[in-house]
Amino acid sequence: MTLNGWRLIALVASIILLLLAAAAGWTAGTAEAARMVIRWTARLSLILFLMAFTASAMVRLAPGAYTIWQRRNRRYLGLSFALSHFVHLGAILTLASVDPDLFWKLTNLVTILAGGLAYVFIAAMAASSFDRIAAAMGGRLWRGVHRFGAWYIYISFIFTFGKRAVMDAAYLPAMVLIAAALFVRLLAYVQTSRSRVTG
Ligand code: HEM
Repeated sequence: MTLNGWRLIALVASIILLLLAAAAGWTAGTAEAARMVIRWTARLSLILFLMAFTASAMVRLAPGAYTIWQRRNRRYLGLSFALSHFVHLGAILTLASVDPDLFWKLTNLVTILAGGLAYVFIAAMAASSFDRIAAAMGGRLWRGVHRFGAWYIYISFIFTFGKRAVMDAAYLPAMVLIAAALFVRLLAYVQTSRSRVTG
């Protein structure tokens, strides 16, 4: 597969640009356009995040061309997720400025605080994906930020998609993907623990 590294990020950036262009051409500067970008970046972010989140587990469970590609590009999948999710944030800020009443109808202070913390992790994880910053942090801190951050973001997706899924069945496929990712990680964990005991 030739879609590796920065090329992968370029592809994700192009998808986001197309999304923004569609929003601009359709109802530029309106709350509806901002909401469209918020929703579609959240969905793109979920896919990219889960691909990074399951990369090691997938290659352990089913080594093959695709899973090796996924593991090799884990860093770039994570950076693509960060890019998509910062566009989510940009569209949220746009919505807050073009229609503050609607913004407060769609969100609340708890979401802003919990979501804000998720953004702190996303920024820290993205910055420390670069070798120099990773080296300056040291292995223990790097692992701590990435492990805790990944689980915090995973749980954020459970809440953000979950609260919509209970009201709208169209969100169920997202919940299935979220559950499947946990299953894959647990299966890989059990398999590794077993091979450690028997090996
Ligand atoms: C300060 C932080 C955040 C704020 C203020 C915020 C705000 C919003 C708002 C207002 C919507 C509704 C858009 C609409 O219905 O038209 C939305 C949708 C969504 N957000 Fe965020 N968000 C934040 C962070 C996050 C984070 C960290 C995640 C996940 C890790 C996330 C995931 C989602 C999802 C899954 C949707 C639903 C997308 C859909 O309808 O398909 N958000 N957000």
